[in-house]
Amino acid sequence: MPERVSLNQRLFDLPLLHGLGRSIHSRRLASEPRGQSTATRFFRNIPQLDALQGPLRELVVGGDSCRILVAGCSFGCEAYSLAAYLAVEFPALDWTIDAFDISHEAVAVAQRAIYGSKYGLADPLHGESRRYAARLLEPCGEAWSITADIRRHVHVSHGDLLASDFSATAGYDIVFAQNFLLHMDDATAAEAFARVVGATRPGGALFVAGMNLDSKLALVRSHRLIPVDWKIEDIHNSDQMRRSAWPWGYWTLEPIDAARPDFIMRYSTIFRTPGSAAAPA
Ligand SMILES: C[S@@+](CC[C@H](N)C(=O)[O-])C[C@H]1O[C@@H](n2cnc3c(N)ncnc32)[C@H](O)[C@@H]1O
Repeated sequence: MPERVSLNQRLFDLPLLHGLGRSIHSRRLASEPRGQSTATRFFRNIPQLDALQGPLRELVVGGDSCRILVAGCSFGCEAYSLAAYLAVEFPALDWTIDAFDISHEAVAVAQRAIYGSKYGLADPLHGESRRYAARLLEPCGEAWSITADIRRHVHVSHGDLLASDFSATAGYDIVFAQNFLLHMDDATAAEAFARVVGATRPGGALFVAGMNLDSKLALVRSHRLIPVDWKIEDIHNSDQMRRSAWPWGYWTLEPIDAARPDFIMRYSTIFRTPGSAAAPA
């Protein structure tokens, strides 16, 4: 659990208030209009990336190169954070990240690759992200720019996951589709989810933090995805943006419930696609 926990979160994490929290959240879910946002941050969930050195290691280093897709990349913070992680933890690895977003403005920021506090760069040189930020960023006037060698591996383009002509080869080893499916209605999220599953190679991995948990459960079951049982509670509680606001918005994230029989399926944010290369969960 991160050190600074809001009073709101401490209150609604009390077992006594779990039922009230769920009931407020259900009402928000039923009544609030969905709306996309470009909110993002660098190094949003490092424990989640640590899975690349844990159960997904074989997927990263097992082939000649590792190909990754980041859908809904916003200003690029997620893709570049991942890039820094790979550069630091797997210095000999040959890797490529393709990233895309529906917002032209966000894509322009990601392609420019110069950041200040405005585009998700809050205090990047402190905390556990420091090691990765030092590899990723170099001073650029008052701001920071992404180092040239990392930029060469990250290709950002404009794209709509839901477009009729959307096409992604099914060849990606790893696909990230995070923090935008929850802003879609269930039918749209199901279509978008099918497309990111389709872009992941058999035995590959899909990162899907930032989904409505009930709709994620239904979708991962219908696509026969295999949950990765890796630091689930740690990853869940690292999603501070959503945890700290529970239950006051449809997009917020409930306190984890270790007693649930579907614990791993419900709370895992990483899933393997079925296929010969899939490791046991
Ligand atoms: C909240 S941001 C999340 C950014 C990043 N994935 C992260 O987790 O930090 C969601 C992004 O998804 C993008 N998005 C929403 N619908 C999309 C679509 N159909 N195709 C591509 N990008 C989309 C939005 O433009 C926005 O930039």
